[in-house]
Amino acid sequence: MENNIINNTDNYILNTYKRQDLVIDKGNNVYLYDINGKKYLDFVSGIGVNSLGYQNKKYNEAIVNQLNKFNHCSNLYYWETQSKLAQKLISISPFDKVFFANSGAEANEGALKLAKKYGNTKKNTKIITMKNSFHGRTLGSLSVTAQNKYQNSFTPLLSNILEGEFNNIESVKKLISEGVCAIIVEPIQGEGGLKPAKKEFLDGLRKICDENDIILIFDEVQCGVGRTGKFFAFENYDVIPDVVTMAKGLANGLPIGAFMINKKYSSILTYGDHASTFGGNPISTAGANVVVDEIINNGILNNVKTNGEYLFAQLNKLKTKYDFIKDIRGLGFMVGIEFDFEVASTMSNLKDNGLLVLNAGNNVLRFLPPLIVKKNHIDEAMGIIENVLKDVKVNV
Ligand SMILES: Cc1ncc(COP(=O)(O)O)c(C=O)c1O
Repeated sequence: MENNIINNTDNYILNTYKRQDLVIDKGNNVYLYDINGKKYLDFVSGIGVNSLGYQNKKYNEAIVNQLNKFNHCSNLYYWETQSKLAQKLISISPFDKVFFANSGAEANEGALKLAKKYGNTKKNTKIITMKNSFHGRTLGSLSVTAQNKYQNSFTPLLSNILEGEFNNIESVKKLISEGVCAIIVEPIQGEGGLKPAKKEFLDGLRKICDENDIILIFDEVQCGVGRTGKFFAFENYDVIPDVVTMAKGLANGLPIGAFMINKKYSSILTYGDHASTFGGNPISTAGANVVVDEIINNGILNNVKTNGEYLFAQLNKLKTKYDFIKDIRGLGFMVGIEFDFEVASTMSNLKDNGLLVLNAGNNVLRFLPPLIVKKNHIDEAMGIIENVLKDVKVNV
């Protein structure tokens, strides 16, 4: 059975993923179980997606309830779960309108189209992105993903993209005279190695955008929806973008993406400009309503803040113990350890010892646990990490 699943996957699915040797069978709370019944503490949460972990009762009920009513009807009509979610997201945010898509890349595509349309009216058609960023794999999002390893085989990409240096406001100022309509940035670079923006940098971007009528887009696909201990990552910085994009954690595993726009720019995209057959579909939005309710009303933000600080402190203790740890960084439940060696084999050893983590680039181990992990889960994870790093030390 196990070999069958692996062989069929490897033989018949386009080979674009590097999968770990692990067949998942089921999940419960913050644990996953493989097909042989082995239990894993899940600090990946499907790449920052399963905010509520597995088998959340309210979430499962909401989905089944919607499924029993109808599964899909398209955006040609109105329905309750989508309209509720929109109202909820607007009520907890400084934004005026939301558009629902199906993924992070697609949320960014919408934000880029908004920027393009606005830019065309002003003949300012350039978009600034930051080096080492990650915004997705579709051609528009890829065009603003300023990393050669993702872009090289797919050129020419969108023209009129300029690259600034993350956390270097002077590098961005130099580009402004070129006719810029938008700046896109991750408040915390995820794939690029878990690098939080400095407050002065985001403040500086806000000022540049205000002074030059440029749309400031924050890509919160990975760092948004409670992951940093605030619903929006920008709340940690007191800097409000004009547009925010979200996806991963918003529907706890059902496909969804969203971009939200402030009043100043919310009338730019109009009828016929943008659409998505599945976007904000009844099942995903039924799930997302529960996620947002739980995050806002059920102590999850506080949990992420408190236990995120605890996780950070525990990892820092490790840093003082092992010379090969270069840095601990991140915010809330988006934390990374940078090593002075490649982490692939460490990641695999952690998995064999019952802890799932992921990487961010070659040298960073990334932790994106479900937002419901508690101190005891962190202690359990630290025990496993200690156990594995002991051996690494011997080998280095
Ligand atoms: C910051 C950021 N933006 C966009 C994306 C793309 O999201 P998706 O894979 O849902 O298209 C990701 C995915 O990792 C991301 O981390």
